[in-house]
Amino acid sequence: MTSLGWWWWHLAAVTTSLSCFTVRWVAALLGRPWVWARTTRAAAVLADSVLLMAGVGLMLTRGWWPTVPVWLWFKWCLLVLYIMLGHLALRTTVPARTRVLAGVVALVVAAHIVGAAVAHHPAGFWFAAGRTG
Ligand code: HEM
Repeated sequence: MTSLGWWWWHLAAVTTSLSCFTVRWVAALLGRPWVWARTTRAAAVLADSVLLMAGVGLMLTRGWWPTVPVWLWFKWCLLVLYIMLGHLALRTTVPARTRVLAGVVALVVAAHIVGAAVAHHPAGFWFAAGRTG
């Protein structure tokens, strides 16, 4: 597949994955039982797998491998943080206040991941905002 093809898959999966997480998070806070249903989890795993695969496809077709740039390493670190916060936000055994906070921070981290990818810089949108020319 071409780099543009991987890009489309990556963006489609990013959108699906973040939307799925947001809907599940709100539903979990409202106590909806389907949040942890097998079908819901399978849909989330599918979107995340496409996201990861297309990310690797992009990395290979755009020449970001084998010399992986700092922003991409940073993106992976933030991804781990996002996954951990996301799990915490969906856990029914955790107090609601913690789940609200974890979900908000997870979405802020996800926004920074997008910023780092767009700006090709660990500072993400902050780097773009600080550029003068
Ligand atoms: C929550 C997780 C992720 C989010 C929100 C995300 C978001 C994005 C976005 C929005 C872009 C498009 C940037 C642009 O067109 O300017 C992008 C590009 C890219 N992403 Fe991700 N991504 C995620 C995970 C990953 C992973 C796991 C990998 C690697 C395995 C990866 C590798 C890449 C690469 C290589 C590019 C292309 C950058 C370029 O050449 O311009 N991403 N990502």
